[in-house]
Amino acid sequence: MRTFRDFMESALYDPERGFYSTRAQSADFYTAPELHPAFGAVLADRLAALLRREAAAAPGAGLTLVEAGCGDGTLAAQVARRLRERHADAAAGLRFALVERSRRDLTTAARRLTAFGLRVEAATSLDSLPRFRGALYSNELIDALPVHLLEKRAGEVREVYVDAENRTAAGPLSRPELEDAAAALRDTLEEGERHAVSLEARAWIAGAAARLESGFLVTVDYGKRFPSGAPNPPRAYRRHAQETDLTSRPGERDLTASVDFEVLIAAGAAAGLALESYQSLSRWLLDGGIQTWLGPDAGDDLALYKDRAQIKTLLHPEGMGEAFKVLVQRKAAA
Ligand SMILES: C[S@@+](CC[C@H](N)C(=O)[O-])C[C@H]1O[C@@H](n2cnc3c(N)ncnc32)[C@H](O)[C@@H]1O
Repeated sequence: MRTFRDFMESALYDPERGFYSTRAQSADFYTAPELHPAFGAVLADRLAALLRREAAAAPGAGLTLVEAGCGDGTLAAQVARRLRERHADAAAGLRFALVERSRRDLTTAARRLTAFGLRVEAATSLDSLPRFRGALYSNELIDALPVHLLEKRAGEVREVYVDAENRTAAGPLSRPELEDAAAALRDTLEEGERHAVSLEARAWIAGAAARLESGFLVTVDYGKRFPSGAPNPPRAYRRHAQETDLTSRPGERDLTASVDFEVLIAAGAAAGLALESYQSLSRWLLDGGIQTWLGPDAGDDLALYKDRAQIKTLLHPEGMGEAFKVLVQRKAAA
């Protein structure tokens, strides 16, 4: 038997059969940059503003922009294009680093970025990058980190394990770090309800804070600030539909859990990251001027209607607009 966390790790990242080792872009879900390039353009505008702030705080220091969990580089290419077109001052001398666990995707992403005249570095883990000043952003990285799964059975909060036939069973907590979450859930979970605990997300924030000498961490993902003890069951997606069973046919489906931004904010504070802002994706995009992408009346141009519907999905409260959040944290120079 292995923990659900170890099962999820191998279902997503097994080098041969893992979901992310074999994923065909957009086949099972769309990420924001896959939906519309306006997302990457607004992100680039906002990153350029943050990089200017960092440059003003530390004149003369070389800055680095890092995308973590960059997949095949779709978003990085949107950001790089916009930096080149609109933010030549912020892009001058900028080092662009890509971090992606899948070597296949990392190679594709690095190749795509060479077209933009930036100094590009590629790494399979954040730990292998030198410490840097600047900004680190990610989109839908944290929701793709494997989670420990807790479940209430016979009045007790137990951990979920998966056997060799991919059947689940409840067992003892595998790590002492899960005890606080289990205690908080004891009186709030209903029988059979589940809650994903991402120890990896905490470690990720601490690791990112350690690599960042000074600057900004921008995290875009779906989730919310969960109240203590609220259930947060993970989900499986295949071909744009949610499936109830999490463990059959490992590698064929995405497994994911909503991000608890409360945890990211607390783990960040413990690692020296101050909370700069926390907004819904729609508010953050509107503040960043995405309206300009909607343009004038589309008349009878059907392609334009499709284009705008995709932007509206980014903004719509029942699309991504409210489900996704944007967290900006700042590390001041020592
Ligand atoms: C849901 S995809 C998002 C891809 C891309 N950011 C986008 O918006 O389209 C998550 C990506 O994070 C990568 N990933 C997961 N854990 C990682 C880690 N610890 N370091 C770097 N990349 C990671 C996965 O391989 C996958 O490509």
